[in-house]
Amino acid sequence: MKHNGIMIKVSDLSKTFQTDRGEVLAADQVSFSVQTGTFFTLLGPSGCGKSTTLRCIAGLEKPEQGEIVVGDRLLFSHNRGLSVPPHKRDIGMVFQSYAIWPHMTVFENVAFPLKVGKKGFSRRQIGEKVQKAIILVQLEGLEDRPAPQLSGGQQQRLALARALVMEPQVLLLDEPLSNLDAKLREQMRIELTDLLNRLGITALYVTHDQLEALAMSQIMAVMKDGKIIEWGEPKEIYIRPKTRFVADFIGTPNFLEGKIIEGTSMGMGVVETTEGEITCQLPGWAKREDRVAVCIRPENVTVRQKPLNEEKNVLEAKVELVTFFGEYNDCQAMVGEKMVRLRLHPSIDLKKGDGVSLFLPPEMCTVLKI
Ligand SMILES: Nc1ncnc2c1ncn2[C@@H]1O[C@H](COP(=O)(O)OP(=O)(O)OP(=O)(O)O)[C@@H](O)[C@H]1O
Ligand SMILES: [Mg+2]
Repeated sequence: MKHNGIMIKVSDLSKTFQTDRGEVLAADQVSFSVQTGTFFTLLGPSGCGKSTTLRCIAGLEKPEQGEIVVGDRLLFSHNRGLSVPPHKRDIGMVFQSYAIWPHMTVFENVAFPLKVGKKGFSRRQIGEKVQKAIILVQLEGLEDRPAPQLSGGQQQRLALARALVMEPQVLLLDEPLSNLDAKLREQMRIELTDLLNRLGITALYVTHDQLEALAMSQIMAVMKDGKIIEWGEPKEIYIRPKTRFVADFIGTPNFLEGKIIEGTSMGMGVVETTEGEITCQLPGWAKREDRVAVCIRPENVTVRQKPLNEEKNVLEAKVELVTFFGEYNDCQAMVGEKMVRLRLHPSIDLKKGDGVSLFLPPEMCTVLKI
């Protein structure tokens, strides 16, 4: 990862909308920084304020509070009464709906940002810049094609070329892949990350798709109700979430609730849950008698049809439902009254009513506040 300083710095950004049903605090004192050349993602459920935050940075919304710095330029400051207009921000933006112009060809679409305003590029300069952008997104040969006659993936790339043609130092992307079918989305995910990495461009990406965020980002921030709840490297957020909301939003974890009955100096402890005693690593804040949730992800539970040798963290379960997903089986099983989700290799042949032993490796269990 490159660490050449900070490219985007958002401080204490707040934006309220007036609606029929009163005020909506869409961005609530949002602060974060993006290192130069990093792919940074805002992830969160619908309505949590991702697009609003992005649009404030682009200058399409006016915040009531806060400061936005991109590169070495202050673009917005409430306190100083400063707001640079969108077209002077040196920021490229790609939207979910592409917003390409249907009455223009591929070439004209890409050339458009170079022609609007008094930018003073010559025809030749425009030709060269457009060609460069078209090659980057691999649309060579389609320059004269009317934009609506492109496939979904090609339209997506065209929107990208149009954002890149101005060679912005920062690219904002708001759910740019969500209109594509699953296979194409996966392909574009790889193409896009690869391209942006090669260009060394700083990207701020918005999605509600957890897989996209995990697969593409170097750093991701999870938002809820206008606030950033947690941020960090995707792996760290996935494996060691700090809050129940984030654990729950990413993946389909199991939560076993209970009380801490033992804690040792080594940081290991025992949680007494309704389903049984679970030994696990305790976070710094946890102490005896605290009510907590032990979080374990389906793929981390060991499932056996015969008794297990482990002395701790073994639970007996009864299979309720097995769903075939090709690459794996999703299994729902009952531990007493509690339904748990398990992920099985398709070769493990289980059916409703089968008894299984589960082992919850202590290092895979995360203790969270309820
Ligand atoms: N122009 C607007 N007028 C009124 N309310 C708005 C406006 N734009 C956004 N909101 C509200 O602000 C909140 C945040 O909206 P925003 O579009 O930022 O969410 P989001 O995280 O991008 O969601 P999604 O994943 O659905 O795109 C929502 O409650 C939304 O209804
Ligand atoms: Mg949005």
